Amino acid sequence: MATDLDGAAGSPDDLLVSLFSDPEVRADPYPVYQRLRELAPVHRSEVLPLWVVSRFDDCGTVLRDPRFGKSDEAQRIFGSAPDAAQREVPIISRHSMLRANPPDHTRLRGLVSREFTPRRVAEMRSAVTAMVDAILDDLAADGGGDVMDVLAFPLPVRVIGELLGIPEQDRDQFRPLVRDASAALEPMTSRDVVIRAERASEAMNDYVRSLIASRRASPSDDLLSALIELRDGGDRLSEDELVATVVLLFAAGFETTTNLIGNGLAALLNHHDQLQRLRGEPALIPNAVEEMLRFEPSVQLDARTALEDADIDGVLVRAGEVVLTLLGAANRDPARYPNPDRFDVGRTGQQHLAFAAGIHFCLGAPLARLEGEVVFERLLARFPTIESDRALRWRPGLTLRGLESLEVSVS
Ligand code: HEM
Repeated sequence: MATDLDGAAGSPDDLLVSLFSDPEVRADPYPVYQRLRELAPVHRSEVLPLWVVSRFDDCGTVLRDPRFGKSDEAQRIFGSAPDAAQREVPIISRHSMLRANPPDHTRLRGLVSREFTPRRVAEMRSAVTAMVDAILDDLAADGGGDVMDVLAFPLPVRVIGELLGIPEQDRDQFRPLVRDASAALEPMTSRDVVIRAERASEAMNDYVRSLIASRRASPSDDLLSALIELRDGGDRLSEDELVATVVLLFAAGFETTTNLIGNGLAALLNHHDQLQRLRGEPALIPNAVEEMLRFEPSVQLDARTALEDADIDGVLVRAGEVVLTLLGAANRDPARYPNPDRFDVGRTGQQHLAFAAGIHFCLGAPLARLEGEVVFERLLARFPTIESDRALRWRPGLTLRGLESLEVSVS
């Protein structure tokens, strides 16, 4: 759906409010991003107490510069209840690396990286291929179906579930919980959404705590047992940190990888020439996955707080002020990418911001990339025809961009 920019109200704050609240703008935020980049690339909002940056270079600077980091302040803007900082169960645990600054972040990420290694991920390739093939068998038998439901959602859950050692029968209960929890990652959410999100986070924490207790009693060779051993072998990981890490690893790959698959397939179906090119040159698939991540990133917003007075391209940001980085806007910045609105599976040198940048660069990126590669390799190899005749329906969120459903027919 195209946005009529001539009809869009003009000031940067009007644009921002439309991004956060207008379903039509959310369905296609890119024209509004473009206008923001042109009008006010480093913008101090009057409606929300924050700065917004939309250029590739400025977003990269904020994400990498150690003068910017994590704070409860940003957490509050991202939908937490006004008193969330005082409550027991914030949406993203404060014991999680995602909310930590050095030195805690360095310690937590270092410990987890020792176990969640690129090798462990690479070893998953044949298992992931088998999972994808089994799903495609079902899709073939039915002549098609809703890709979101049968592939994009179950696959990442199965993959990370296997890797971590979450029992199969327990995994499905996480779908509504992750949905409810991540709804509060949207700016300007209602109190009801926040309360539901807090309940969902609490339920996930409780589940993981009891799973840790039983795995402690009978360890296995999964990532969960390895993390428990780290915790029990030394005193460098607290029990709360262990729980937060497991919840983060399990939940962080759900909606994100799901939407890489859905958004990526939608981009291919909407650009038939690119789909044909990829069929002819399957070696381009890893590159195509990077282009999908650049073109329709599943995480559109990230945030940092100035930990001291700092500047962005010469503009002063005071200590304590929050900066929103529009990753989806950065990835379409014409100063960085020629023809940024063109989906081009042969584009080189993307180095996009879909996984953010700096010390919080997505720890699961190698796993997400592997899943994306295997899905598109197998899908294209298996089905000479993949078609969809339905209009795309985007989910209402902006932070997490993904489709409600994606009905396809295959043969
Ligand atoms: C296409 C799929 C994915 C996308 C687009 C994505 C995106 C991101 C982004 C933007 C961040 C940075 C957040 C911030 O700066 O606050 C992040 C962090 C993180 N992601 Fe992902 N992610 C994906 C898949 C995964 C998977 C599969 C996992 C785990 C299995 C994962 C685990 C993590 C973790 C643990 C962090 C925190 C890193 C840190 O704070 O140092 N992600 N991800």
